[in-house]
Amino acid sequence: MTFDRPTGAQGRLDRRTALAGAGAAAAAVTLAACGSAKSTPARKEPGVEVVKAADVPVGGAVIAGDTVVTQPVAGSFQGFSAACTHLGCTVSKVDRGRIICRCHGSAFGLDGTVATGPAERPLDPRPIRVDGDRIVTA
Ligand code: FES
Repeated sequence: MTFDRPTGAQGRLDRRTALAGAGAAAAAVTLAACGSAKSTPARKEPGVEVVKAADVPVGGAVIAGDTVVTQPVAGSFQGFSAACTHLGCTVSKVDRGRIICRCHGSAFGLDGTVATGPAERPLDPRPIRVDGDRIVTA
């Protein structure tokens, strides 16, 4: 059995076209895989309200979109990305001082550290500051 192999300009064009198509397909797959990350950028412009300070319980936390704001002690706020460091699910629950990821059961403390795996890394810090009665991006 033999195969005809294109040669010359026509052959190069076909290979180029095929490679361009493969590249476009790979780019589409990459964009689809990162679609949620693109819609929730890690870095926002400063001064954007994340949550009202009064809505963050002392000894607790609030999940506000892609950001978790904790208040371990009165008047001390910390911000973290809501993306679980295990496989990237958004943490979805706060229970008794623990930030919970329901995907595989990881839990994080109010300081972002891992309380229960499978996550091995703490939540990524997210710069915030208090602005009057609001917690805003820093
Ligand atoms: S993605 Fe959160 S525990 Fe797996």
